[in-house]
Amino acid sequence: MLHDPNRVHIFDTTLRDGEQVPGCQLSTPQKVEIAKSLELLGVDVIEAGFPVSSPGDFNSVIELSKAVNDPIICALTRANKNDIDVAADALRYAKRPRIHTGIGASDMHIKTKFNSTREEILERAVEAVKYAKKYVEDVEFYAEDAGRADIEYLAKMVEAVIAAGATVVNIPDTNGYCLPDQYGSKILFLKENVKNIDQAIISCHCHNDLGLATANSIAGLQNGARQVECTINGIGERAGNTSMEEVVMILKTHKTLGLHTNINTQGIYEISHQVRNLMNMPVQPNKAIVGANAFAHSSGIHQDGFLKNRENYEIIKPSDVGFPDATIVLTARSGRHALKHHLDRLGHHLDKDNLAIAYTAFLDLADSKQGINDDDLNQLVALHLATKLS
Ligand code: KIV
Ligand code: ZN
Repeated sequence: MLHDPNRVHIFDTTLRDGEQVPGCQLSTPQKVEIAKSLELLGVDVIEAGFPVSSPGDFNSVIELSKAVNDPIICALTRANKNDIDVAADALRYAKRPRIHTGIGASDMHIKTKFNSTREEILERAVEAVKYAKKYVEDVEFYAEDAGRADIEYLAKMVEAVIAAGATVVNIPDTNGYCLPDQYGSKILFLKENVKNIDQAIISCHCHNDLGLATANSIAGLQNGARQVECTINGIGERAGNTSMEEVVMILKTHKTLGLHTNINTQGIYEISHQVRNLMNMPVQPNKAIVGANAFAHSSGIHQDGFLKNRENYEIIKPSDVGFPDATIVLTARSGRHALKHHLDRLGHHLDKDNLAIAYTAFLDLADSKQGINDDDLNQLVALHLATKLS
């Protein structure tokens, strides 16, 4: 059981849910490379793959199990014996193996995916957990589409799988359907109504179809969940999964939540780049924490405030996530303060009058050109001020 009640376990599924994205497939050596970086970053669990799905996935789980020492290595299965046999075989070299088995919990999945009944599905869930327990002590159960499941039935399922030996119970919002207060209430309901709930860790697994994956995961944590399933850069099925860097930095920034992770946040930017390069998956420039513009200040009002005191417009230090540094981008929206900052940096220390001349010339240039660089500034000084300054 958990020793520190405020410690949030980070379960990384970049190599399983993340790798399901079309065009993102990795070779086994590439997965090993990322897994080693995840270990250095301090993640608690690495979901290494879905071994029954393909020989490649099976082999990756074997190689990751050999390559990684500290994190738990987890393999996904459906709730059937063959999947579990294959996963257990793939995990044979793992120092800390976990089988992640589960089945649909919403009536939609029960009826139209499994053509079954709530009672039958409950039995299959319990059987799967008991069967996985023959191989490993650590069994995580997922109640797929829990976001749309009937809450009383979900609670019954959670209680039954914990009684069967599940150490972690995953409550996936598989379709990214919930609002944060709805997802948080589900977790609270389970905490308050499942009598053996304290024998397992509750896990949040949220998808981003409505852009709420991170908000929902945080709501889950605020209501008692202590594991978050997430991916680097938020990659994953459709609109993606909860983004690890966002959850980790929210917990670090909002100390009043009283929750913490084991993540070495200074490694975040580097692993974000590793994942985008190896997976051929660009990151949008305005992506929180790791996007190219995450620490770029471009409007005159912001630049002026930032230059007076960075904390006016900076809630996270770039160095905290290993980001090179904040940038003051020169555009037609920039003010004199930002221009002076860059001219000073280049060694052009202008008095007030010359700065006014430079600023007028700068605005003309910025209106006609996207992005002003150092060469542009040096030329501008040479053209408009050389005679006056000499
Ligand atoms: O989104 C989901 O429900 C999943 C499960 C397989 C855990 O990825
Ligand atoms: Zn998922």
